[in-house]
Amino acid sequence: MKIVRAKTAGFCFGVKRAVETVYKELQEEAGSGPRIYTYGPIIHNDEVVKDMEKRGVKVLRTEAELESLTEGTVIIRSHGVPEYIYKKMEEQGLTVIDATCPFVKKIHNIVQRESRAGSHIVIIGNPEHPEVQGIRGWAGDHVTVVQSEKDASDFVPNPGMKVCIVAQTTFNYNKFQDLVEIISEKSYDVSVLNTICSATKERQNEAGSIAEEVDAMIVIGDKHSSNTQKLFEICQKACKDTYYIQTLDDLDLNQLGSVETVGITAGASTPNNIIEEVQNNVRIIF
Ligand code: F3S
Repeated sequence: MKIVRAKTAGFCFGVKRAVETVYKELQEEAGSGPRIYTYGPIIHNDEVVKDMEKRGVKVLRTEAELESLTEGTVIIRSHGVPEYIYKKMEEQGLTVIDATCPFVKKIHNIVQRESRAGSHIVIIGNPEHPEVQGIRGWAGDHVTVVQSEKDASDFVPNPGMKVCIVAQTTFNYNKFQDLVEIISEKSYDVSVLNTICSATKERQNEAGSIAEEVDAMIVIGDKHSSNTQKLFEICQKACKDTYYIQTLDDLDLNQLGSVETVGITAGASTPNNIIEEVQNNVRIIF
């Protein structure tokens, strides 16, 4: 019996940095300083967010909640925020700690620069995802979000404008290439910047190859985490016995009883202790 745990399972650099920023701030303030807020849950993981709330961090879930603040420290999560949110926080006199992942910040800089230079920005990603909404908020007036083949086919470039394509960092690379191909046929002047984070690609590739070799695959991550959902899709294609769980409680260990090899991977927002707990319990039944 064998368990294969993906080396790339769990927190990526940007998420680790954002989570550590919150805990560091909590330690420094130690209950005596201004209240600490995060603008949106710091990561897509209920377990981590609940732990932070227990220690006194308050999650601001809407813009209206942010607007009601008159003091405090607000931590911006790794997904980043639109430019106007920084201005709002500044006007309200709040202390801002920016934990935007540097790779996402780089996309903000690209779209701001390219839109100022006269390009129509195309963001390939999920329009509902906070990261995409953040990028959009740096991309000027001519910006389109493309998520599907239909969106790409429907896209009409502004006459006389160059087109600059960027991607949500967690977007699937092959799908990105397909959509770029469709858009590129519509204009002569298209620049493509593949801003997909290599952490995502490496995690997806490793998960795919492990899933091909094992009898059952476990993907651990929050149900709202888009990168975990994509990992699940990739693994399910390669291994029909793929389970998507948030914590050990969601796993029916009896289902795994008859398999010989189990693969384990986890999304970018899954803490190490949850991965280890699953791994240790799967080991016990073998
Ligand atoms: Fe940053 Fe890549 Fe993670 S963009 S938040 S290191 S997936």
